[in-house]
Amino acid sequence: MNENIVWHNYAITKAQRSEQKKHKPTILWFTGFSGSGKSTVANALENALNQLGVHTYLLDGDNVRHGLCKDLGFTDEDRVENIRRVGETAKLMVDAGLVVLTAFISPFQSERDMVRNLVDDGEFIEVFLDTPLDVCETRDPKGLYKKARAGEIKHFTGIDSDYQVPTSPEIKIDTSKNTLDQSVQELVAYLKQQQIIG
Ligand SMILES: Nc1ncnc2c1ncn2[C@@H]1O[C@H](COP(=O)(O)OP(=O)(O)O)[C@@H](O)[C@H]1O
Ligand SMILES: [Mg+2]
Repeated sequence: MNENIVWHNYAITKAQRSEQKKHKPTILWFTGFSGSGKSTVANALENALNQLGVHTYLLDGDNVRHGLCKDLGFTDEDRVENIRRVGETAKLMVDAGLVVLTAFISPFQSERDMVRNLVDDGEFIEVFLDTPLDVCETRDPKGLYKKARAGEIKHFTGIDSDYQVPTSPEIKIDTSKNTLDQSVQELVAYLKQQQIIG
């Protein structure tokens, strides 16, 4: 980094922002195959949290690829850069005092760990949506598995690109066994138990 770039301490701290919001900031990092339910569960959880007065923001894979990451593709290298940018963005949002929900396949353990290490202890909650690949493929909400099987999409996770199962996620949910409401209740209960929300 350029030696002339010097960090300026802000007058207002993360703790002060958090105090004003009456909850702790954190990242709920959803990971899992395409179709495992990341966007669906994250949206339903954000709804529930907003009803509880929690300040939230949702970063979703497809949405950031319209802007922040529109120059990136799906090679391993680009996936790593995608997660790095999203991680830094989530970190800024944690500093702003928000409960950040992220919905990215994020197939590599090293990138998930990289984001975990960007924030303080307890501020990164890895939520592994452990929905079996065959269920995800049957759901195929965006028709992407069909295209991947036909060879029309390359580097598709679970088909011709790796998914590294999380080694120690804080939460594991199989959405083929849980209803959407059960998943949301489980996550809200966890946030209360960890005293992130009141
Ligand atoms: N119990 C459940 N929890 C979450 N999603 C479910 C559940 N049962 C069926 N689905 C469906 O599975 C699909 C999950 O897609 P999506 O949320 O877009 O996955 P992802 O964001 O992980 O790619 C949706 O069409 C959703 O309606
Ligand atoms: Mg999604």
